[in-house]
Amino acid sequence: MAPYLHHLYGRNELRYQMLVLLSVVSVWQAVAWSAMAQPSPADVAAGQRIAQASCSECHVIVRNGPAGWTDAPSFEAIANRPTTTSAWLESFVQKPHIDMMHRIRNDSDAAKLAAYILSLKRR
Ligand code: HEC
Repeated sequence: MAPYLHHLYGRNELRYQMLVLLSVVSVWQAVAWSAMAQPSPADVAAGQRIAQASCSECHVIVRNGPAGWTDAPSFEAIANRPTTTSAWLESFVQKPHIDMMHRIRNDSDAAKLAAYILSLKRR
């Protein structure tokens, strides 16, 4: 620090200003985080990887993707139903359907799957 600044600010005052600055930054981060209605692109990408590994044998998981061996609805169709919500998807994928019961999904994976499926919604 330039020596002349010591005359203007005592050490403690500088510390105090640093503290104020830090708390302003963290409040701003908290607000930005809570205002983030959309899931992160990283979650959507992770959800797509899980869907590719666990759902694609039966569901069409990408737009215009190849059909699976069942008549399961495509993820795009599911995403575009007016009734589909993230909460519904998350609870649905944590329950068994067809032969998914052997693969128990945790909350985090369920949220990523829901984020991915909803990313297919036409806007
Ligand atoms: C073995 C085949 C199979 C696999 C694997 C599978 N599904 Fe399904 N899924 C189906 C079939 C068939 C239906 C339609 C009948 C039903 O709802 O049970 C369906 C329906 C659904 C529905 C919509 C239910 C409704 O109300 O119409 C959702 C959402 C869904 N699957 C999500 C997933 C997700 C997410 C995965 C991967 C984690 C997955 N499925 C894996 C066969 C499968």
